[in-house]
Amino acid sequence: MRFASFILSVAAAAASVKAATVPAKRATVCNGHAELCNRSYGNVTFLGAHDSFAFSDDPLALSRDQEVDIPSQLGLGLLFDGGTVEDYLKKVHDFLTANPNEVLTLLFTNPDGASLPDLWDPPFQASGVADLAYVPPQIPVKQSDWPTLGELIDSGKRVIVFLDAGADTDRSVPYILPEFQMIWETPFSVTDANFPCSVDRISGPLSTEDHMYLINHSLNKNLLDTGIIVSDPKDASTTNSVDSITKNAAGCEQFAAGRAPNFVLLDFVNLGQGLDAVNQLNGLA
Ligand SMILES: *[C@@H]1O[C@H](CO)[C@@H](O)[C@H](O)[C@H]1NC(C)=O
Ligand SMILES: *[C@@H]1O[C@H](CO)[C@@H](O)[C@H](O)[C@H]1NC(C)=O
Ligand SMILES: *[C@@H]1O[C@H](CO)[C@@H](O)[C@H](O)[C@H]1NC(C)=O
Repeated sequence: MRFASFILSVAAAAASVKAATVPAKRATVCNGHAELCNRSYGNVTFLGAHDSFAFSDDPLALSRDQEVDIPSQLGLGLLFDGGTVEDYLKKVHDFLTANPNEVLTLLFTNPDGASLPDLWDPPFQASGVADLAYVPPQIPVKQSDWPTLGELIDSGKRVIVFLDAGADTDRSVPYILPEFQMIWETPFSVTDANFPCSVDRISGPLSTEDHMYLINHSLNKNLLDTGIIVSDPKDASTTNSVDSITKNAAGCEQFAAGRAPNFVLLDFVNLGQGLDAVNQLNGLA
């Protein structure tokens, strides 16, 4: 069974603060920013690492992870069995335990159509991540209907799990959500540095504007016109600049009632200014 995965998170610039003495637990800092606690999940821009286990509230750790951890292997298209997915999710669980005020999105692809109850659910259960996963009251959830980050954190259900295929027809694992019913994506394998925006993958019944959306901001090169598409770290400082990311976002806002993207997916997330761009899109810069 082949898994590709994406970990998405606001990588927080500030340390998490816990209000340990307040009787009713109430998050005061969410994903590194007090301003995000009252913001709906559907109205936050999250930075994501493409095929990476890289997430952290420390950009330096972010770069370390990106270079050495499991996802770089996933990025090479290696095959994994459920056991490895479990190890991966155990690291996710460790991260969440160490970062109690963090809402995390997991976006998995399921190219082989692996069974949700037989193959996806077990590693989520064994790692403990299933216990932290948010189950919406109904599916699909409109962009404007998501809880706030503070509510997700306070409820203890602060992992949002999306799968690109299978969860639309099989609803037997309630926390595994059908991605394209709630998120649309820009095209992948973009080779134009201007990142012209279009709605690529999406499904109904919600309107385009009622979806969240993901910009896949990685620039690929067609190697010697062979049709082999790769992304080049040499381009990352330009591609991952605030200017390039916010221009891409601006080009997409026409499809989203003027809203910024929910997920900015980068290659080589440790290079360039992804965090600055995302803070700016969140109005925090
Ligand atoms: C969030 O909203 C609640 C009430 O709606 C308010 O008491 C609280 O101060 C707000 N928190 C922040 C960080 O704005
Ligand atoms: C959140 O809402 C503000 C105000 O309407 C908007 O400027 C921003 O683009 C929105 N961000 C997302 C990710 O929806
Ligand atoms: C983003 O694009 C890359 C290629 O550049 C592709 O491998 C990946 O599947 C895309 N990711 C998403 C979520 O579309």
